[in-house]
Amino acid sequence: MPEQTIGIAGIGCSVPSTVLTNDDLEKLVDTSDEWIRTRTGIQTRHVLGKDETLLDLAVEASRRALEDAGVTAEQITDIRVGVNSWFRFPSLATRLQEVLGALGSSASDVSAGCSGFIYGMEDAYNKLLIQKLQYHRDGVALVVGAEALSHITDWSDRNTCVLFGDGAGAVVLKATDRGAILATHTHADGRYGPMLYSDPVNGSQRGDNGEWFVRRESNWPFLHMQGRKVYPVAVETMVREVRAVIDKYNHAADEQIGIEDIGYIYPHQANLRIIESVAKRLKAPLDRVYTNGVVRYGNTSTASIPLGYCDNRDHFAGGGSTPRLEIDVAFGSGFASGAILRRVG
Ligand code: UT7
Repeated sequence: MPEQTIGIAGIGCSVPSTVLTNDDLEKLVDTSDEWIRTRTGIQTRHVLGKDETLLDLAVEASRRALEDAGVTAEQITDIRVGVNSWFRFPSLATRLQEVLGALGSSASDVSAGCSGFIYGMEDAYNKLLIQKLQYHRDGVALVVGAEALSHITDWSDRNTCVLFGDGAGAVVLKATDRGAILATHTHADGRYGPMLYSDPVNGSQRGDNGEWFVRRESNWPFLHMQGRKVYPVAVETMVREVRAVIDKYNHAADEQIGIEDIGYIYPHQANLRIIESVAKRLKAPLDRVYTNGVVRYGNTSTASIPLGYCDNRDHFAGGGSTPRLEIDVAFGSGFASGAILRRVG
């Protein structure tokens, strides 16, 4: 294994307290708990309450990650926020920077669909490496995936409203002995744009069926997805990304690894059936694949992978005991995709 020291030194997450069950959704649209469970695996999702904001979630997750890593906001040199539900400027990253008091950092958002967290990690990691190799400086990056998808969901569209949830996850990247990033890979294919996009015109905002979904902050675009068409591309692309990141690592490493050497995989949590198909195609045992997020939180887009880290906090915290290789893999609008190979422990 090549010697690398930049890795995840701290993790933190936040989800809103309001939980929406499948039964709740039955009251809104023509759907059923049975349909949602069997087609997606989703049982609950968390949505922002009237007085909560996306910034609140991002701040809470970030503070927890900083505390976990034992670093202060003043030490941060770079903030990257993967987000698809912040339709304004200045960026969510700069708002976060201000609230945290991380005024010595650069800060920007990453727009890469559900792969925004992976793209942000790759960017931040490369920047830290360059600083280290070229300028002999150790930086500290805060990488966040944060979404308020309930704000851009058309709550009268049963094809999409049962799928998504709100949440935020954050990591601190720096020189650490808790683990290391070994390789990253990203790709996009803009030809698929029309299958998963947001559109400011075609959507309906319903305000007469209950309080929780009337709290849109502005007339933001609605999310549209041709789910049936997206599905097979999601499976195929995530399988390809996993193989690509392993190939990339092998290209530069002395030792060659294969999928059988991967101890755990964090796939983007869009649909339990997609995750199961990816695992099957990779011949990865399902007990080594994270699936809990889609069941509990639904599809939280850029937040789904770091939320998974927090669900497995014991492993991250006690990472020293059993070293293992892990892969994060995401796919989403654009169709932007990506994977990260990490060593934990
Ligand atoms: O995170 C970014 C990437 N996103 C993804 O990767 C998501 C990819 N797609 C999917 O996860 C799945 O395609 C969905 C969960 C969105 C849909 O599952 P599906 O098995 O592909 O269902 P479908 O779209 O083929 O729809 C089957 C039927 C349709 O009825 P007809 O036309 O067969 O009569 C839909 O109208 O199910 C109907 N349907 C529903 N029925 C009850 C669609 N949504 C619902 C619903 N409740 N919520």
